[in-house]
Amino acid sequence: MDKKIWIVANWKSNKTIAQALDWVEQVGPNIPKVDHLEVIICPPVVDLDEVKKAIIVGNFPLEVGAQDLSAFDVGAHTGEEAAKILSQLVGFSIIGHSERRQELGETDQMISEKVDQALKYGITSILCVQGVETFIPEAVRLVAYEPIFAIGTGHPDTPENANQVAQQIKTKAGSELEVLYGGSVTSENIKSFLDQPDLSGVLVGGASLDPQEFIKIVKATA
Ligand code: PGA
Repeated sequence: MDKKIWIVANWKSNKTIAQALDWVEQVGPNIPKVDHLEVIICPPVVDLDEVKKAIIVGNFPLEVGAQDLSAFDVGAHTGEEAAKILSQLVGFSIIGHSERRQELGETDQMISEKVDQALKYGITSILCVQGVETFIPEAVRLVAYEPIFAIGTGHPDTPENANQVAQQIKTKAGSELEVLYGGSVTSENIKSFLDQPDLSGVLVGGASLDPQEFIKIVKATA
């Protein structure tokens, strides 16, 4: 495969520090050191520092990302994780996941502000969109198409439809965008998405939690 492939693991609200370190120890040595593969782990914020240290100590070709960041800059914003502070640890952040839009009422306005904060502090946004109609702020270069019906259900979109949506997103928001697919991706179906010309990778939730399954997912890109 010659195109660059992104695999983003979204652990959501799962894994204690001990569980996260066990995962890194199992998965790290199994990630191939190849230029065309970018594997990004997005653990809970509390785990980030230890996960990052374990990656550095093991010299594993893994990056860490946040699952969200604050729409506010540093200051009096209790409980928020500011991009400036996160940028000490992460180079990436998922922004606008549908669970946050649904459960926490995140709006396009808030999401735009988050993208601005990420940009200001050198964090690459991985913007989750639910379809071609979702607003994409101009600064975004990496988008994950994640149809709600496919998230955590075991019923992924078809690779052909995901590719078509990716094409429509590029037509609307810019051909330089890279589009990932997310929603019930597993080691069994990943290849069918990576084979699509307009998809540059996957965002994996549930199937990324099990180290052995995640190793299979990564190996499927070889
Ligand atoms: P899933 O989640 O792989 O468990 O469907 C994907 C996501 O929500 O990012």
